[in-house]
Amino acid sequence: MRHLLNPLDFSVEETNRLLDLARDIKDHPDQYAHKCDGKRLATLFYEPSTRTRLSFEAAMMNLGGTVLGFSSAQSSSASKGESVADTIRVVSCYANIVAMRHPKEGAPAVAAQFSKVPVINAGDGGHQHPTQTLADMMTIRELRGSLENFTIGLCGDLKFGRTVHSLISSLIRYPGVKFVLISPPELRIPDSIREDVLNAHNIEYKEVEKLEDVIPELDILYMTRVQKERFFNEDDYLRMKDFYILTESKLALAKKDMYILHPLPRVNEISVEVDKDPRAQYFTQVQYAVYVREALILTLLGLA
Ligand code: NCD
Repeated sequence: MRHLLNPLDFSVEETNRLLDLARDIKDHPDQYAHKCDGKRLATLFYEPSTRTRLSFEAAMMNLGGTVLGFSSAQSSSASKGESVADTIRVVSCYANIVAMRHPKEGAPAVAAQFSKVPVINAGDGGHQHPTQTLADMMTIRELRGSLENFTIGLCGDLKFGRTVHSLISSLIRYPGVKFVLISPPELRIPDSIREDVLNAHNIEYKEVEKLEDVIPELDILYMTRVQKERFFNEDDYLRMKDFYILTESKLALAKKDMYILHPLPRVNEISVEVDKDPRAQYFTQVQYAVYVREALILTLLGLA
């Protein structure tokens, strides 16, 4: 039995196969409409979510399966003090596969140890978010035709942004990907990513503070929200929250074929006027996220 806890749980070959499957699902949805008849997905969400939970549920429904679960810790027995280990033992009796989001790093990995069914990490604290990364990778691959030889700027909260950590860890496995890390000094990427991921693999990257200085060299601009819920004090958040705001005038400096991605939710970091720019692709990402989650469910259930 396999789980997806960390983006590196899948090899490059397995990841590429999954992205191929997601593309086939996009092109021929009807052929997959009954692949999960009689199967159930449980979504255990101890933290807020719109896209991740609903896209997992939509993915399972598109495959003919059904869903059950909870959308906040308050509405589950966690509020009575039940452990993740006990909850997953119980939910394993009700569902064939589980997607879990939790504020504590490593909680889905604990769940996997006690689960009788595959567990998917749907975001654990400021750590990892491997299924968002699959959506990001599908989007880049569909837009550019390949995951090789491009420069990606990641901008915003690189410290707490789990989607950033997972995306960097995955993209270093493809040749010729260069990273430009754009953040205020307080929100730079954690040492674990700088040392163990980038430096350890001799990856080309630079860290800068001003988006305008580097935007002309980017092929992909990955904007992120300042992760309010992970700040220890409100004043720091307020100081940082509007550090970057992408506007049409800043975009005038960018390549004509640079694409803008964002895992969403957006707060202020992309001005709504940018939405109509053909380079804005964050809502395409939302659509592709459903296909990659369908492909992932099929893969982990052994139905691919
Ligand atoms: C992200 C997350 O939850 O980490 N959202 C998502 O799943 N698309 C990004 C965020 O919350 O900023």
